[in-house]
Amino acid sequence: MIRKFFAAALLMSLAASSQAQTPDVIAVANLTIDISKPGAEIDRHIYGQFAEHLGRGIYEGIWVGEGSKIPNIHGYRTDVVNALKAIHVPDVRWPGGCFGDLYNWRDGIGPRAKRPVRVNVHWGGVTEDNSFGTHEFMNFAELIGADAYVSLNVGSLSPYESAQWLEYMTSDSKSSLANERRRNGRAKPWNVKFVGIGNETWGCGGNMRPEYAADINRRYATFAGTPREMGSLKIASGSHDDNYDFAEAMMKGGGKFDGLSVHYYTVPRVFRDKGPATGFPESEWASTLAHALHIDEIVTRTAAIMDKVDPDKKIGLYVDEWGTWYDQEPGSHPGFLYQQNSLRDAEVAALSLNIFQRHSDRVKGANIAQMINVLQAMILTDKDRMVLTPTYHVFDMYQVFMGARPYPVTVSARDYASGNSKMPMVDGFAARGADGKLYIAMVNTDPSHAVQVITNLTGTGHGRILTGFAMDAHNSFDAPNMVHPIAFNGSTAAGRLAFDMPAKSVAVVAVD
Ligand code: AHR
Repeated sequence: MIRKFFAAALLMSLAASSQAQTPDVIAVANLTIDISKPGAEIDRHIYGQFAEHLGRGIYEGIWVGEGSKIPNIHGYRTDVVNALKAIHVPDVRWPGGCFGDLYNWRDGIGPRAKRPVRVNVHWGGVTEDNSFGTHEFMNFAELIGADAYVSLNVGSLSPYESAQWLEYMTSDSKSSLANERRRNGRAKPWNVKFVGIGNETWGCGGNMRPEYAADINRRYATFAGTPREMGSLKIASGSHDDNYDFAEAMMKGGGKFDGLSVHYYTVPRVFRDKGPATGFPESEWASTLAHALHIDEIVTRTAAIMDKVDPDKKIGLYVDEWGTWYDQEPGSHPGFLYQQNSLRDAEVAALSLNIFQRHSDRVKGANIAQMINVLQAMILTDKDRMVLTPTYHVFDMYQVFMGARPYPVTVSARDYASGNSKMPMVDGFAARGADGKLYIAMVNTDPSHAVQVITNLTGTGHGRILTGFAMDAHNSFDAPNMVHPIAFNGSTAAGRLAFDMPAKSVAVVAVD
């Protein structure tokens, strides 16, 4: 039986945590899991991060330097390191982005005081003192336990220089480059798991034509060598949004590579007038979620292009830039892409990760843009203060899906619609975790109405839920804990396991 105000207990606990709302109308959805058909293992690299030399992403966000008053571990801020360790970041992509195709790795090695100062022409025209370079990045990745994803400059450096950088980082020989690395303080080679062959070759990476970009990939990938036993994966720069030319050309003529990238950003309106990160109308809540869901079509169509050349799915699809992109916060430095992060971003993160997880046979990696203080960030900092965003909490809750095997799920729910946007009110995902437990993720996209999700399972369910008072509920430096996950338990409806999802909520539960 449907209970009119089923969420009384939940509301009390939400109120206690400043996240209450009123479930004025109750809807019902049925979520059916087929546990007879597990899919391909979910690669943990789909929960990867991106850190570009952009705004306060690297400087202040990660790196404050050893002499800083902000507590740090060899120059890396302690609070950020601990927060990233807690979500087991699988890999970090660096140094760009657009920055990468004007980056000379030689600028970022050797004594910091002697490193050249350059202008960051892409991002705010500020000076870049190169105090965060190869050693600082590679040691940071090791410190947080993440794999390194290093993006080569194929736009303005030669293949020879790229090859030298890789030798510098990965060679255990007595070569001049390996010895130079040792003199600069690193005895052992680093492990470079992912080698990005350029970035956005269709745009800031060189404004190439698709066939030319494919030739560039063949050429640079030929020389982008690391020791065989390292098993590095080469990722070709592919398409973006609804453009598939670069994916087609790369699959047909790009030579040998292990992964193909695709980039997709979610904007509420249009790119030249994106809309604010907070204080938006309901129509922009809905258009943002609808645009986020569009990545399913992009992944599906790119996968179909890949299937024609690679039916055995040996090449992975890497969504190595994705996330929300809003108007940057009023008063923030132009070109720094600093934006708040709200419950809306949490829903975008959950819906997007659900899509990547469903495509686990092809999607082998993804990197949300960007990790700290830029676009859809995990973490925001203000000098010595730090807040974890709603997006961070989703990545935390979704850790159970690392290495899980997804099950087919069908959800019958009414649609949620606002303005010109329409989508299912409930998005559901289920998988058998690496620990053997069954996990379910649920998203209620409707910002005003609660829903009871009735599964085809029996038993009990418990986990965590993220919700809030308002569509743009967020954490600020003065109120850093407005949006955080709280305990969430299932109930029984008609003899089956059910979950009472309040409006605008994301939940992940384990089933016993
Ligand atoms: O993430 C910001 C920018 O978006 C990246 O530098 C670029 O690759 C993309 O266009």
